[in-house]
Amino acid sequence: MDYQKIFSNIVSQMQSFKDSGNLANYIPELGNVSPQKFGVHLVTIENSNYNLGDSAEKFSIQSISKVLSLTLAFEIEEENLWKRVGVEPSGTPFNSLIQLEHDEGIPRNPFINAGAIVVADILVSHLQNPKKEFLEFVRKLSGNSTITYSDIIAESEKSTGYRNAALCNLMKSFGNIKNDIDVVLDFYFNLCSIEMTCDELAKTFLFLANYGKNSITGDKIISTSKSKRINAVMQLCGLYDEAGEFSFKVGLPGKSGVGGGIVAVHPGKYSIAVWSPRLNKKGNSNKGMKFLEEFTTATESSIF
Ligand code: DON
Repeated sequence: MDYQKIFSNIVSQMQSFKDSGNLANYIPELGNVSPQKFGVHLVTIENSNYNLGDSAEKFSIQSISKVLSLTLAFEIEEENLWKRVGVEPSGTPFNSLIQLEHDEGIPRNPFINAGAIVVADILVSHLQNPKKEFLEFVRKLSGNSTITYSDIIAESEKSTGYRNAALCNLMKSFGNIKNDIDVVLDFYFNLCSIEMTCDELAKTFLFLANYGKNSITGDKIISTSKSKRINAVMQLCGLYDEAGEFSFKVGLPGKSGVGGGIVAVHPGKYSIAVWSPRLNKKGNSNKGMKFLEEFTTATESSIF
């Protein structure tokens, strides 16, 4: 498949696309990114690479790293993990508090902020140095030892992270946060601050396109069964209250972040990452979603 040509065709078709979204300036530093950036990178499980635009420029992956923290926590906790976080779509915004009171502090899934904060708490409980060990894990997944946190972004989010603090406190009141809330939130803000290029992001997620094994590095990261389950949660919850729309239009397991990135995997075929910072009302990359819709349509490569 000539993915390179398909990328160029879609970008020229989309020249008239009205990208009217806003930047995620509730995290002040994210408001400083150039809104017109656009990049895409696809890597196949045979390690063929295709890219276009600003695909080699770093951006804040934000919630996309929730898949990576989930992967590590699932390895550590096995099935016990699901006693503290569910696998159901929430149908509510990623930072909503509404269901948490009703559900007695058990978040609907690991990708809404509440769920990712529980996963961060689990990692804080098990790891001696959570920030260092999580970064080592991400570097192993990506096959890239230069990937790191952005202190500027983490601090920026900490300065305005009132809703996340509220979620964490509410869950602590129900006994679903075991550690000090400041420690858990600090780790959570850091894991959201990781920066990657589209190229690095696509390669980091290759293990989920290849049944748990990174086909470039040869590392078996997780079992085939865990890979299936993580992809299932991405399919149902990866784009929050727009997960249905993403399944309907794109048809791949995917995960978004408010930095404007979206990564999606086609098991047995490829991993693809797009970046375009303007977000729609649900907090997902406006142009990124449209590009992926056009891509799976042109290549007839949705999983459905
Ligand atoms: O906690 C937050 O609000 C951000 N660090 C992450 C949110 C996010 O990326 C939601 N994604 N679309």
